[in-house]
Amino acid sequence: MTAAVRIVQATKRFGATLALDRIEFDIAQGEFFGLLGPNGAGKTTLISALAGLVKIDSGRLEVMGCDVRSDYRAARRQLGVVPQELVFDPFFTVRETLRMQAGYFGIGRSAARDSWIDEILEHLDLTPKAEANMRTLSGGMKRRVLVAQALVHRPPVIVLDEPTAGVDVELRQTLWQFIHRLNREGHTIVLTTHYLEEAESMCDRIAMLKAGCMVALDTTRNLLDRSARRTLRLRTFADLSEMPGGGQPQGDGWWIFSFEQFAEIEPLLACIRAAGGEIAELEINQPDLEQVFIRIMREQEQVDG
Ligand SMILES: Nc1ncnc2c1ncn2[C@@H]1O[C@H](COP(=O)(O)OP(=O)(O)O)[C@@H](O)[C@H]1O
Ligand SMILES: [Mg+2]
Repeated sequence: MTAAVRIVQATKRFGATLALDRIEFDIAQGEFFGLLGPNGAGKTTLISALAGLVKIDSGRLEVMGCDVRSDYRAARRQLGVVPQELVFDPFFTVRETLRMQAGYFGIGRSAARDSWIDEILEHLDLTPKAEANMRTLSGGMKRRVLVAQALVHRPPVIVLDEPTAGVDVELRQTLWQFIHRLNREGHTIVLTTHYLEEAESMCDRIAMLKAGCMVALDTTRNLLDRSARRTLRLRTFADLSEMPGGGQPQGDGWWIFSFEQFAEIEPLLACIRAAGGEIAELEINQPDLEQVFIRIMREQEQVDG
């Protein structure tokens, strides 16, 4: 099957800044893909290049098999981008803005166009604001319109660049519900976000960029597993200092054990029982994506020297 997004050795410089350094990966159709990295990593540059707004110096980009450079119009039609920055024309209403956007993609006046616009407005809770001028909308509402604009031409690939930066919880939930529905219906979703718990819960696979380089590319599951420093904390008044498995006392009866496989827990508990311990409390801590991200970024600093 044709990749939804194909990135081959993409390189981009802005003066002395290497914003993208030979980035290469594919995103499969139907994936919910996360593009993560600290500020300045190159995420927006990559997204802008996919949308044809930035020209890469070398390499190749394709959206649904269409080359972004040689087949620009076809590639652009396959892609809906929710930009990081709020840009809009203040003099039009929400509905006019969406109709104009449809026009850019050659979608003229039709009942199908209007009912799709109604549906988008409804799903983003924008219906009450449909006839309001853009300049009268709050920041959160404007962001909803940006999302609506990206969807108006029904693109198979939807890219969201920090769509929830600084927006309220309510919009986040509305937005994610709608995006999930689109993903279930077969749309490919590419997301950048600062909220790593969002990425962890939603993305099948994740690429991490740092200073223009790709430093990780894997399934979310593997990223979490690979950095497995799982810990078991438990509270008992038995003395576990002689126990095999090296428990660390934490005070007040708490002990902490590191483990890799869950199968290690049972023998550990059996040892505690053999030592005459009764377990008063117990908790297991799994690494989350935030910890994985911080670790990968740190390792990269050491590599960079
Ligand atoms: N138009 C531009 N002119 C000069 N430098 C730019 C431009 N756009 C981005 N950069 C630089 O390229 C790097 C990557 O930026 P960007 O893609 O916006 O990162 P991110 O979205 O991951 O925060 C940064 O160092 C940024 O300053
Ligand atoms: Mg950015």
